[in-house]
Amino acid sequence: MVAWARPLPRTVSGQAAAEEDRGNDVTDASRLRELAADARPIVVGVCGCPGAGKTTVASAVADQVGLARLHRDTIKNGLGVSTATVDPDGTLQLPEPFHVAGGPFSLQAETILQQVARLLVQSGCSFVVETSVLTSELLALVHAADGVFLAVEVVADPAVVETRLRARTTEGEATAHQLLAQFLRGEMTRPIFAPPREADWTVVLDTSKGGVPDVTPVQLGFRAAIAETWQRSG
Ligand SMILES: Nc1ncnc2c1ncn2[C@@H]1O[C@H](COP(=O)(O)OP(=O)(O)O)[C@@H](O)[C@H]1O
Ligand SMILES: [Mg+2]
Repeated sequence: MVAWARPLPRTVSGQAAAEEDRGNDVTDASRLRELAADARPIVVGVCGCPGAGKTTVASAVADQVGLARLHRDTIKNGLGVSTATVDPDGTLQLPEPFHVAGGPFSLQAETILQQVARLLVQSGCSFVVETSVLTSELLALVHAADGVFLAVEVVADPAVVETRLRARTTEGEATAHQLLAQFLRGEMTRPIFAPPREADWTVVLDTSKGGVPDVTPVQLGFRAAIAETWQRSG
Protein backbone atom coordinates (compact mmCIF):
# COMPACT_ATOMS: atom_id res chain seq x y z
CA MET A 1 0.00 0.00 0.00
CA VAL A 2 1.31 3.41 -0.86
CA ALA A 3 0.74 5.93 1.88
CA TRP A 4 1.21 9.61 1.20
CA ALA A 5 2.32 11.99 3.86
CA ARG A 6 -0.01 14.88 4.42
CA PRO A 7 1.80 18.19 4.27
CA LEU A 8 2.04 20.13 7.51
CA PRO A 9 -0.71 22.71 7.85
CA ARG A 10 0.14 25.85 5.98
CA THR A 11 -1.03 29.26 6.99
CA VAL A 12 -2.51 31.06 4.07
CA SER A 13 -1.00 34.48 4.09
CA GLY A 14 -3.18 36.57 1.81
CA GLN A 15 -0.12 37.81 -0.02
CA ALA A 16 1.45 34.42 -0.76
CA ALA A 17 -1.78 32.83 -1.87
CA ALA A 18 -2.61 35.86 -4.00
CA GLU A 19 0.76 35.39 -5.74
CA GLU A 20 -0.01 31.73 -6.38
CA ASP A 21 -3.36 32.62 -7.61
CA ARG A 22 -2.46 35.41 -9.98
CA GLY A 23 -4.91 35.75 -12.78
CA ASN A 24 -7.86 34.26 -10.89
CA ASP A 25 -10.60 36.24 -9.23
CA VAL A 26 -10.97 34.33 -5.96
CA THR A 27 -13.83 36.52 -4.79
CA ASP A 28 -16.04 35.27 -7.63
CA ALA A 29 -18.26 32.75 -5.78
CA SER A 30 -19.68 31.10 -8.88
CA ARG A 31 -16.16 30.58 -10.29
CA LEU A 32 -14.99 29.07 -6.98
CA ARG A 33 -18.01 26.76 -6.91
CA GLU A 34 -17.31 25.69 -10.49
CA LEU A 35 -13.65 24.93 -9.68
CA ALA A 36 -14.59 23.12 -6.46
CA ALA A 37 -17.00 20.88 -8.35
CA ASP A 38 -14.01 19.27 -10.10
CA ALA A 39 -11.92 18.95 -6.95
CA ARG A 40 -12.01 16.57 -4.02
CA PRO A 41 -14.38 17.76 -1.27
CA ILE A 42 -13.05 20.68 0.73
CA VAL A 43 -14.34 21.11 4.28
CA VAL A 44 -14.01 24.60 5.72
CA GLY A 45 -13.98 24.19 9.51
CA VAL A 46 -14.66 27.39 11.46
CA CYS A 47 -13.56 27.35 15.11
CA GLY A 48 -12.88 29.83 17.90
CA CYS A 49 -14.05 30.80 21.36
CA PRO A 50 -17.64 31.93 21.99
CA GLY A 51 -17.96 35.54 20.89
CA ALA A 52 -14.97 35.34 18.55
CA GLY A 53 -17.28 35.82 15.56
CA LYS A 54 -17.59 32.26 14.18
CA THR A 55 -21.25 32.44 13.19
CA THR A 56 -20.74 35.77 11.45
CA VAL A 57 -17.67 34.51 9.60
CA ALA A 58 -19.09 31.06 8.76
CA SER A 59 -22.25 32.63 7.32
CA ALA A 60 -20.22 35.07 5.24
CA VAL A 61 -17.97 32.26 3.95
CA ALA A 62 -20.94 30.04 3.12
CA ASP A 63 -22.57 32.92 1.21
CA GLN A 64 -19.48 34.13 -0.56
CA VAL A 65 -18.08 30.74 -1.52
CA GLY A 66 -21.56 29.38 -2.16
CA LEU A 67 -21.42 26.44 0.25
CA ALA A 68 -23.86 24.82 2.67
CA ARG A 69 -23.20 25.50 6.37
CA LEU A 70 -23.38 22.90 9.10
CA HIS A 71 -23.70 24.61 12.48
CA ARG A 72 -23.40 22.71 15.75
CA ASP A 73 -25.53 25.16 17.74
CA THR A 74 -28.39 24.95 15.21
CA ILE A 75 -28.39 21.16 15.64
CA LYS A 76 -28.28 21.63 19.42
CA ASN A 77 -31.24 24.03 19.32
CA GLY A 78 -33.22 21.53 17.24
CA LEU A 79 -32.51 18.79 19.78
CA GLY A 80 -33.63 21.13 22.57
CA VAL A 81 -36.91 22.03 20.87
CA SER A 82 -37.63 18.39 20.07
CA THR A 83 -37.42 17.48 23.77
CA ALA A 84 -39.05 20.64 25.18
CA THR A 85 -42.39 20.80 26.95
CA VAL A 86 -44.94 23.55 26.41
CA ASP A 87 -46.56 25.39 29.34
CA PRO A 88 -50.32 26.10 29.25
CA ASP A 89 -49.50 29.68 28.25
CA GLY A 90 -47.48 28.41 25.29
CA THR A 91 -44.02 29.05 26.76
CA LEU A 92 -41.43 26.50 25.60
CA GLN A 93 -39.61 24.82 28.51
CA LEU A 94 -36.27 23.43 27.49
CA PRO A 95 -34.94 20.53 29.58
CA GLU A 96 -32.47 21.64 32.28
CA PRO A 97 -29.37 19.94 30.76
CA PHE A 98 -29.89 22.01 27.59
CA HIS A 99 -28.60 25.06 29.44
CA VAL A 100 -25.27 23.50 30.39
CA ALA A 101 -22.50 24.82 28.13
CA GLY A 102 -20.64 21.78 26.83
CA GLY A 103 -23.32 19.52 28.38
CA PRO A 104 -25.11 16.46 26.95
CA PHE A 105 -27.01 18.41 24.30
CA SER A 106 -23.79 19.95 22.99
CA LEU A 107 -22.13 16.53 22.90
CA GLN A 108 -25.06 14.93 21.08
CA ALA A 109 -25.12 17.83 18.61
CA GLU A 110 -21.39 17.30 17.97
CA THR A 111 -22.01 13.59 17.28
CA ILE A 112 -24.79 14.39 14.81
CA LEU A 113 -22.64 17.07 13.22
CA GLN A 114 -19.91 14.47 12.64
CA GLN A 115 -22.37 11.98 11.15
CA VAL A 116 -23.75 14.57 8.73
CA ALA A 117 -20.24 15.77 7.87
CA ARG A 118 -19.21 12.19 7.10
CA LEU A 119 -22.17 11.69 4.76
CA LEU A 120 -21.57 14.99 2.98
CA VAL A 121 -17.86 14.50 2.47
CA GLN A 122 -18.39 10.88 1.35
CA SER A 123 -20.87 12.26 -1.20
CA GLY A 124 -18.16 14.56 -2.53
CA CYS A 125 -19.70 17.80 -1.20
CA SER A 126 -17.65 20.78 -0.09
CA PHE A 127 -19.23 22.62 2.85
CA VAL A 128 -18.63 24.87 5.87
CA VAL A 129 -18.79 23.41 9.36
CA GLU A 130 -18.97 25.63 12.46
CA THR A 131 -18.20 24.36 15.94
CA SER A 132 -16.09 26.02 18.64
CA VAL A 133 -13.49 23.22 18.74
CA LEU A 134 -12.56 21.28 15.60
CA THR A 135 -11.91 17.78 16.92
CA SER A 136 -9.32 15.35 15.62
CA GLU A 137 -12.24 12.95 14.97
CA LEU A 138 -13.82 15.45 12.58
CA LEU A 139 -10.51 15.96 10.78
CA ALA A 140 -9.96 12.21 10.60
CA LEU A 141 -13.33 11.47 9.05
CA VAL A 142 -12.78 14.15 6.41
CA HIS A 143 -9.39 12.70 5.54
CA ALA A 144 -10.79 9.14 5.57
CA ALA A 145 -13.27 10.24 2.89
CA ASP A 146 -10.41 11.78 0.89
CA GLY A 147 -11.43 15.35 1.68
CA VAL A 148 -9.21 18.36 2.26
CA PHE A 149 -9.57 20.30 5.52
CA LEU A 150 -9.25 24.08 5.54
CA ALA A 151 -9.39 25.31 9.14
CA VAL A 152 -10.48 28.88 9.87
CA GLU A 153 -9.58 30.02 13.36
CA VAL A 154 -11.67 33.05 14.28
CA VAL A 155 -10.12 35.26 16.95
CA ALA A 156 -10.79 38.66 18.52
CA ASP A 157 -9.15 40.77 21.22
CA PRO A 158 -10.17 39.57 24.70
CA ALA A 159 -11.75 42.95 25.48
CA VAL A 160 -13.90 42.66 22.35
CA VAL A 161 -14.89 39.08 23.20
CA GLU A 162 -15.86 40.19 26.71
CA THR A 163 -18.06 42.99 25.37
CA ARG A 164 -19.78 40.56 22.98
CA LEU A 165 -20.36 37.96 25.70
CA ARG A 166 -21.75 40.62 28.05
CA ALA A 167 -24.14 41.76 25.33
CA ARG A 168 -25.40 38.19 24.99
CA THR A 169 -26.30 37.99 28.68
CA THR A 170 -28.83 40.75 28.10
CA GLU A 171 -30.11 39.13 24.90
CA GLY A 172 -31.32 36.12 26.91
CA GLU A 173 -29.10 33.46 25.31
CA ALA A 174 -29.48 30.35 27.49
CA THR A 175 -25.79 29.70 28.15
CA ALA A 176 -24.62 33.35 28.01
CA HIS A 177 -23.96 33.76 31.76
CA GLN A 178 -21.98 30.52 31.97
CA LEU A 179 -19.88 31.46 28.95
CA LEU A 180 -19.15 34.92 30.33
CA ALA A 181 -18.22 33.46 33.75
CA GLN A 182 -15.89 30.92 32.09
CA PHE A 183 -14.32 33.69 30.05
CA LEU A 184 -13.78 35.89 33.13
CA ARG A 185 -12.19 32.97 34.98
CA GLY A 186 -9.64 32.73 32.16
CA GLU A 187 -10.96 29.37 30.94
CA MET A 188 -11.26 30.42 27.31
CA THR A 189 -7.73 30.83 26.14
CA ARG A 190 -6.86 30.65 22.46
CA PRO A 191 -5.04 27.25 22.49
CA ILE A 192 -8.26 25.51 23.61
CA PHE A 193 -9.97 26.54 20.37
CA ALA A 194 -6.99 26.30 18.01
CA PRO A 195 -7.44 23.96 15.03
CA PRO A 196 -5.73 20.55 15.17
CA ARG A 197 -2.33 20.22 13.47
CA GLU A 198 -3.77 17.71 11.01
CA ALA A 199 -5.62 20.48 9.15
CA ASP A 200 -4.28 20.78 5.60
CA TRP A 201 -4.60 24.56 5.57
CA THR A 202 -5.12 27.09 8.32
CA VAL A 203 -6.43 30.65 8.07
CA VAL A 204 -6.63 32.98 11.08
CA LEU A 205 -9.28 35.72 10.91
CA ASP A 206 -9.36 38.50 13.48
CA THR A 207 -12.81 40.07 13.84
CA SER A 208 -11.89 42.64 16.51
CA LYS A 209 -12.56 45.54 14.15
CA GLY A 210 -16.20 44.58 13.77
CA GLY A 211 -18.36 45.30 10.77
CA VAL A 212 -18.78 42.90 7.87
CA PRO A 213 -15.94 40.37 8.12
CA ASP A 214 -13.47 40.28 5.23
CA VAL A 215 -13.32 36.63 4.26
CA THR A 216 -10.93 37.08 1.32
CA PRO A 217 -8.18 35.04 3.10
CA VAL A 218 -10.62 32.13 3.32
CA GLN A 219 -11.48 32.45 -0.37
CA LEU A 220 -7.75 32.43 -1.13
CA GLY A 221 -7.27 29.39 1.08
CA PHE A 222 -10.18 27.65 -0.61
CA ARG A 223 -8.68 28.40 -4.02
CA ALA A 224 -5.28 27.10 -2.87
CA ALA A 225 -6.92 23.93 -1.50
CA ILE A 226 -8.59 23.34 -4.88
CA ALA A 227 -5.23 23.69 -6.63
CA GLU A 228 -3.74 21.22 -4.16
CA THR A 229 -6.40 18.60 -4.79
CA TRP A 230 -5.68 18.87 -8.53
CA GLN A 231 -1.96 18.45 -7.92
CA ARG A 232 -2.49 15.40 -5.74
CA SER A 233 -4.73 13.71 -8.25
CA GLY A 234 -2.14 14.45 -10.90
N1 LIG B 1 -16.58 41.47 11.82
C1 LIG B 1 -17.24 40.72 12.71
N2 LIG B 1 -17.02 39.42 12.70
C2 LIG B 1 -17.64 38.66 13.60
N3 LIG B 1 -18.50 39.07 14.53
C3 LIG B 1 -18.78 40.36 14.58
C4 LIG B 1 -18.15 41.24 13.68
N4 LIG B 1 -18.60 42.45 13.93
C5 LIG B 1 -19.47 42.32 14.94
N5 LIG B 1 -19.58 41.09 15.36
C6 LIG B 1 -20.48 40.67 16.47
O1 LIG B 1 -19.90 39.85 17.45
C7 LIG B 1 -20.91 39.04 18.06
C8 LIG B 1 -20.46 37.63 18.18
O2 LIG B 1 -20.36 37.07 16.91
P1 LIG B 1 -20.78 35.56 16.62
O3 LIG B 1 -20.54 35.41 15.16
O4 LIG B 1 -22.13 35.23 17.12
O5 LIG B 1 -19.67 34.78 17.48
P2 LIG B 1 -19.54 33.24 17.82
O6 LIG B 1 -20.37 32.48 16.83
O7 LIG B 1 -18.08 32.96 17.71
O8 LIG B 1 -20.02 33.08 19.22
C9 LIG B 1 -22.16 39.17 17.20
O9 LIG B 1 -23.06 39.98 17.89
C10 LIG B 1 -21.64 39.83 15.96
O10 LIG B 1 -22.63 40.65 15.36
MG1 LIG C 1 -21.93 31.13 17.02
